[in-house]
Amino acid sequence: MKKPYLRFMITGILISAALIYFEADPGFLYADQATVKTRQLNLAEKGSDLYGKYCSMCHGANGKGYLADEASALSNQDFLKSASDDYIIQGILRGRPGTPMSAWGKEQGGILTIEDAQAILSFFRTWQKEPSVDLSNAAANGKAENGGNAENGAKLFEQWCAACHGKYGAGGKAIKLNNPIFLETASDNFIRYTIENGRRNTAMSAYKNILSATDTNDVVAYIRTLNADNSFKETVAVDNEELSKVIRERGVLNPGNPPADFSVIDNRFVAADDVYAAYKAEQSFIIIDARPTSDYLRSHITGAISIPFYDIKNAVGLLPKDIWLITYCVCPHALSGRAANQLKAADYDKVAILNEGFVFWQKKGYPSESSINSQLPKD
Ligand code: HEC
Ligand code: HEC
Repeated sequence: MKKPYLRFMITGILISAALIYFEADPGFLYADQATVKTRQLNLAEKGSDLYGKYCSMCHGANGKGYLADEASALSNQDFLKSASDDYIIQGILRGRPGTPMSAWGKEQGGILTIEDAQAILSFFRTWQKEPSVDLSNAAANGKAENGGNAENGAKLFEQWCAACHGKYGAGGKAIKLNNPIFLETASDNFIRYTIENGRRNTAMSAYKNILSATDTNDVVAYIRTLNADNSFKETVAVDNEELSKVIRERGVLNPGNPPADFSVIDNRFVAADDVYAAYKAEQSFIIIDARPTSDYLRSHITGAISIPFYDIKNAVGLLPKDIWLITYCVCPHALSGRAANQLKAADYDKVAILNEGFVFWQKKGYPSESSINSQLPKD
């Protein structure tokens, strides 16, 4: 008895829905600016909710970034004006495999629809105060298509970029550049723009006064060769030759002089004062800068050689075992400690870590050199 009534009601609802639809549609077509704005605001509001729920714990409520390591500043003006809508949406949906940045898209097993990602994008755009620059070009799909010289780019990258982005762009202190999704979705122009202009108020500085346009293009070509899968194959070949030359030619301090002998604290550390004493007495030993080479290029203990902690295994067999090896970094033990551990594991007994680290050494006025100016390319 109640059924016909129900059916009538449903039909009624459907008819009104259709009426509303057909009435609303032309309204939408002729919507004035204000309506469009309201719709955008609604979208941004939805995006803001989603962002608060899923993203802010790493990228920060205001998009300043770095609540999680390497979670970049998404409200950064240089990022927002240079990143295309597509780059950001793909970034959200597909993430950065192998990093804390998950793929959030439903199709990838996440929870966000494309509409959700668009809402988040439109929330991001409310942060943007400066006009976008069009940097789209054909996504290069990981291939070097820009005609740059990747070999030269590799050298420049090692010198200027690896300290933060890691050797082979595999990350470290900053966002990874060898990520397949990044390489697929970032245009050459976007990468070039970022190198030239940097990202204000982040560690990413502008390189346009340091690298020439050709150099920048070479670096882009090199970044195009990076690939999380083949990063390691190249490590050994490139480095061993270089390393054995460095160790042979200028590894040992005061070669031929009586060897230094250190008293070691906790079987691991040696005091900076003791190292300096041996230094002053012109005894022979080796000082190893365990930081990434670009840090070394900026400044280092005079006479130290650069063997980044991630390369130290390549130096096993090349370094002598009969004189002391002192490793250091800034931290003061994190990197130097890793380097020392690896050497000890390879049966080096005379290994110690500079206890107070490089900053203390510099503060004491012990000999160090800064070579940043001599490293600037002349162009
Ligand atoms: C667990 C921490 C974490 C969460 C949660 C997270 N991210 Fe990320 N995000 C990262 C990290 C780390 C990176 C950099 C990854 C790399 O090294 O390439 C990143 C990168 C990105 C990038 C690329 C930026 C660029 O410069 O290329 C975008 C866009 C992004 N995140 C958006 C989001 C959005 C939107 C959400 C929420 C839906 C989110 N992230 C949630 C950690 C996180
Ligand atoms: C002192 C550390 C540091 C150095 C050195 C450095 N970068 Fe960066 N770079 C960063 C940080 C941090 C970011 C992310 C900034 C942000 O939050 O947007 C970044 C971002 C980038 C991005 C954008 C990546 C993305 O997913 O959005 C590119 C491309 C890049 N750097 C290339 C380079 C190149 C090439 C060099 C050398 C010429 C270099 N960087 C040197 C710290 C550094």
